[in-house]
Amino acid sequence: MTGETLEEQREYVRRLAAAHVENGDPLGWFEPLYSAAERGEALVPWADHVPNPRLVEWAGGRAGEGRTALVVGCGMGDDAEYLAGLGWAVTAFDVSPSAVRAAASRFPGSSVRYVAADLLAPPEEWRQAYDLVVEIYTVQVLRGDLRERAVRAAGSLVAPGGTLLVVARAREESDPEGRMPWPLTRTEIDAFATGGLRPVRVRDVYDDETPPVRRWVAEFART
Ligand SMILES: C[S@@+](CC[C@H](N)C(=O)[O-])C[C@H]1O[C@@H](n2cnc3c(N)ncnc32)[C@H](O)[C@@H]1O
Repeated sequence: MTGETLEEQREYVRRLAAAHVENGDPLGWFEPLYSAAERGEALVPWADHVPNPRLVEWAGGRAGEGRTALVVGCGMGDDAEYLAGLGWAVTAFDVSPSAVRAAASRFPGSSVRYVAADLLAPPEEWRQAYDLVVEIYTVQVLRGDLRERAVRAAGSLVAPGGTLLVVARAREESDPEGRMPWPLTRTEIDAFATGGLRPVRVRDVYDDETPPVRRWVAEFART
């Protein structure tokens, strides 16, 4: 195991991320992390095995009624399964094949279509194809040009009349960038309103964690 406590696990993941970023391979650390977790040698620090409370709050238990949803960077699949349970027709993807495998095997018989794919190069047929796109905590593990491309790509997947929901860590423009996960500034969250998307509501919230975590909960729509 890569650490005894959650904080030691987080430090291990930060070191893994830093090593790959330094080697010019900023997407390369997700697969080794998930495959180590598959072998029981590491813990995935963000995998809390429950749907994200901000997604649950946003959905408000409303039925999906067969509309299409795409879950970006789906990790272990809890958000995807939550939406499927509400009646959305869900596709969920992650850049790590081991994550996709882990999610699919946690939920045998699920209606969710789990796919290994890269948000930075999504399949062409996904363009403007989803009534709901859910982006939770993926953009915050990317920086610079990759972050800008990921923001544009997430919006490009929203169908006419559809919604993009984003949940991400928040910081002031004047705050230091901090450590991975790197919080987004207001300018960065506003940048999701591009390529025909408009902001519906951008909330600046503090989640009840120890210590409290500041996040954006932002909804965008394509008319
Ligand atoms: C911090 S985790 C969050 C996972 C999940 N959304 C959650 O909230 O538990 C970020 C996820 O994004 C995935 N990811 C990172 N870059 C990606 C990319 N370019 N395309 C697809 N998935 C990506 C990682 O493998 C990881 O599962």
